[in-house]
Amino acid sequence: MDKFVIRGGNPLLGTVRISGAKNAALPAMAAALLTEEPVILENVPQVRDIETERKLLATMGAEVELGYGRAQHRTTICCRNPANPEASYDLVKTMRASTLVLGPLVARMKEARVSLPGGCAIGARPIDLHIKGLEKLGARISQEHGYIEARAERLRGAQIRFDRITVTGTEDLLMAATLAEGETVLENCAREPEVVDLAALLTKMGARIEGAGTSTIRVQGVEQLHGARHRIIPDRIEAGTFVVAGALTGGDLTVAGCEPRHLDALLQKIQECGIRISVTDDSIRVTGDGPLKGADIATEEYPGFATDLQAQYMALATQCDGVSIVDEHIFENRFMHAQELVRMGANIKIESHRATVRGKTPLSGAAVLASDLRASASLVLAALVADGETIIDRVYHIDRGYERIEEKLRGVGAQIRRIGELLPKRAASPVAV
Ligand code: EPU
Repeated sequence: MDKFVIRGGNPLLGTVRISGAKNAALPAMAAALLTEEPVILENVPQVRDIETERKLLATMGAEVELGYGRAQHRTTICCRNPANPEASYDLVKTMRASTLVLGPLVARMKEARVSLPGGCAIGARPIDLHIKGLEKLGARISQEHGYIEARAERLRGAQIRFDRITVTGTEDLLMAATLAEGETVLENCAREPEVVDLAALLTKMGARIEGAGTSTIRVQGVEQLHGARHRIIPDRIEAGTFVVAGALTGGDLTVAGCEPRHLDALLQKIQECGIRISVTDDSIRVTGDGPLKGADIATEEYPGFATDLQAQYMALATQCDGVSIVDEHIFENRFMHAQELVRMGANIKIESHRATVRGKTPLSGAAVLASDLRASASLVLAALVADGETIIDRVYHIDRGYERIEEKLRGVGAQIRRIGELLPKRAASPVAV
């Protein structure tokens, strides 16, 4: 298992380029199941979750070509003769977003067999709302041996109100509705940019969709969809992670090739902390060499503060003067990074869904464990300002969603390297707190 060895203390200086959004590319790849023609996706990030989705689609008989380098991260998916409408437990347990194939499979192949994902490091994360929605569209659903089985000769348009806002739930039903008979109205939808990007792709494929990016999406079902070419939006969470990295290290960092308007909530908070930001159409420059002051955040659905940036913000809060309250409202167990930050010297108290961070406390390098994707990112950020060397174990979590993060960080001055199984001679010893 790979580890990162990071020596803290260097401000990040220069320009870092942002990759395509993992959470937009995953539903876009699933959308290719809806047509027999090729779907060409550009700006697909080279991360482990994309490789998992490639495997998943391949098990269903899709031809998936992942082109990198000169092929500009282009992925071509062709599901001419999908054969096996099943997402196995082996794949779903490594990536919950595999459940995104449920809607497209029932819509196109009339049946789907998808493993239930089970719990996960950040919360229970059921998929009951996907299932309820599909039932409303006329699918017959049964559950056996840990799998959901869904069948429908042809889905029928319906009025569906999500009991709570769900990103992949909105995406799953949006895809299903494109091939349903008649009109579907989805209410209380997620408004995330990734939903809007998926709707843009589906529209290019011939779907008739109105209202993506608002709470109500209307879909007029069509008989069939065709192939399309689409460029995936930049990854707002990767961009936000680098913005925090620039701020935290007191650097002068330009985060290029991003969509600053997707990051309004973060940028507002960062400025409240005393960091200078300048924004162009597609870049954010962060300069922060003065003292930082704490600010409270509460995670919410888009356009609120993203839960996927909460852990990274917490690393920043440890270096701000005063108290920062961090409320997590989306997932019930998304504070796994806090105890690792405490081991590095942070002062964080957790009570239910609230973390109280008291700063500024010096951080010192330690051996720490990554527990999930965004928690790992927060540990990398903390290590960049910690005294001495930090060793982060289980970086496969970070490889799921950040493309070449260590190369990108090294390019702007960080001291970070990846090591394999072998420990370096001078391993950091854990700090007792
Ligand atoms: N929920 C239900 N029932 C459902 C679906 C969701 O109760 O059927 C609950 C969840 O348990 C959670 C809340 O609703 O408490 C919101 O979950 P949501 O469905 O929106 O999350 P998701 O679609 O599974 C996506 C991202 C996550 C991101 C969340 C929230 C993808 C592939 N994943 O997950 O990204 O945290 O939305 O914004 O788009 C990540 O990239 O690190 C990541 C975890």
